[in-house]
Amino acid sequence: MIRDYLILLSWLCAVQGKIGYFWHITDIHYDPKYSTQGNAASMCWNTRNSLDAGRIRLDRKLAGKFGDYNCDSPWALIESAARAMKSMHSEGMEFVLWTGDALTRSAGAGMSVELRLQCLRNLTDLLHRTFKGQFVFPALGHEDIGVNYTQLANLWQHWLPPEAVGTFIKAGYYTIEQRSKKYRIVFLNTNLWLNPVDSRMPHRVGSSTVDNTQDPFGQWSWFQSVLENARKKKETVYIVGHTPPGVDDHEIGAAALNEKHNTKYLQTVRLYSDIIRGQFFGHWHSDTFRVIYNDMGQPVSWIMMTPSVTPSAVGGPNNPGLRLYKFETNTGQILDYTQYYLNLPEANANGKANWMIEYSLLEYYELQEISAITLHDLADRFTQSNDYAFVRYYAANTVTLPREVEQIWGCGGPLNGVCALHHYCTVTRLNPDSYKECYSSYAYALASTANSIVRPYFALHLLSMLICAEVLNDR
Ligand SMILES: *[C@@H]1O[C@H](CO)[C@@H](O)[C@H](O)[C@H]1NC(C)=O
Ligand SMILES: *[C@@H]1O[C@H](CO)[C@@H](O)[C@H](O)[C@H]1NC(C)=O
Repeated sequence: MIRDYLILLSWLCAVQGKIGYFWHITDIHYDPKYSTQGNAASMCWNTRNSLDAGRIRLDRKLAGKFGDYNCDSPWALIESAARAMKSMHSEGMEFVLWTGDALTRSAGAGMSVELRLQCLRNLTDLLHRTFKGQFVFPALGHEDIGVNYTQLANLWQHWLPPEAVGTFIKAGYYTIEQRSKKYRIVFLNTNLWLNPVDSRMPHRVGSSTVDNTQDPFGQWSWFQSVLENARKKKETVYIVGHTPPGVDDHEIGAAALNEKHNTKYLQTVRLYSDIIRGQFFGHWHSDTFRVIYNDMGQPVSWIMMTPSVTPSAVGGPNNPGLRLYKFETNTGQILDYTQYYLNLPEANANGKANWMIEYSLLEYYELQEISAITLHDLADRFTQSNDYAFVRYYAANTVTLPREVEQIWGCGGPLNGVCALHHYCTVTRLNPDSYKECYSSYAYALASTANSIVRPYFALHLLSMLICAEVLNDR
């Protein structure tokens, strides 16, 4: 009896394995020029353009030490985030994912290579001090430019093992094998797969020549061989990068990955969905997720997007966020995550950054586990008016933005079916055409039953969607 129990217990332990944690931080967008002195135009490097002047006015009063909804991150905000991560969790910490866009947006040519390098070095030093004895694994974003791969590899040499450096200095991608465990992490350089308008600058990162071939800098053939080998060795895989496939959930259906590469990415994930345990991206600055389906329409894989550290985004602001994942270290199975955030106006008012838990995934949405199927069901609940899921998702999407700021940018007044539909379609349709199809087909059904307040808004939304669909996102 006791023996049976012990056997069962050891079996359970072997199956469940050890619990580990990792942080995911993304889109820091450090602005070295941020200053609380002076007017809006000189307050930060990336003051929003005149189009947004009307929207800026309201939160002008919120300008402060830890940042502003119209500006990228000041150093004080980044330091407070690092301090918070250090104090909040260190036990069982396995590694840190840092998915790019470390530098302020649109600084473009205005920021010298020396200044870029200095910003990247200061951020690297800060993370190095924060996570002593742990590995921070960086993925490149489209704003991490002007510094070449060799310089970046030197900067990150204490985190990247020699095998990783080999491919990193070639074109910014690499893989980390957790030898004692059975999972590996693949870091993509999504800059190589962006739309032409986005990719003008990124290619300066490592090379002066743009590679417009089917397989820029050999990343596809490398990626596929890594996945194939992982399957042979019975490893599970995390895929990590900056720009995810699919369309933006803040702006209206804008894509960032080049269509050809977007399609190929989805095909690849379908092919290897049996070994992929998670996909982790940033870029949109919002708290959201995506579900990938196979050819028969069954959910087979998921992507999580962690919200940005910077409070500013093209499609509307958010509170600064940090995310802690909990996982099973033998298999890589993701068990849950806890989303942390900073209430920016409150921090500025108090002169003290008090990072807090915003929510934990399973509890927040009452999910049994994280899987493609449970996340598909969650997205489905967005469209059900008697379910709380969309209201919760919507609050988390902008990281609990204060109501008065949210109303300027968000769904417009009380949540309505059209807004939920837009989010439902971005979560479940990962290319611009299927997004448009999803949105318009459901929207017509909705419009015919909707009340007269919703209808004009819907028409406007649909119109702007059609106009904006081709506008490329430049984040
Ligand atoms: C980087 O850190 C050094 C040393 O603290 C400081 O003097 C410098 O101003 C910082 N530069 C930037 C761009 O943050
Ligand atoms: C990268 O930049 C460094 C410093 O500017 C330079 O010495 C090196 O030749 C560059 N490497 C490549 C591959 O462009």
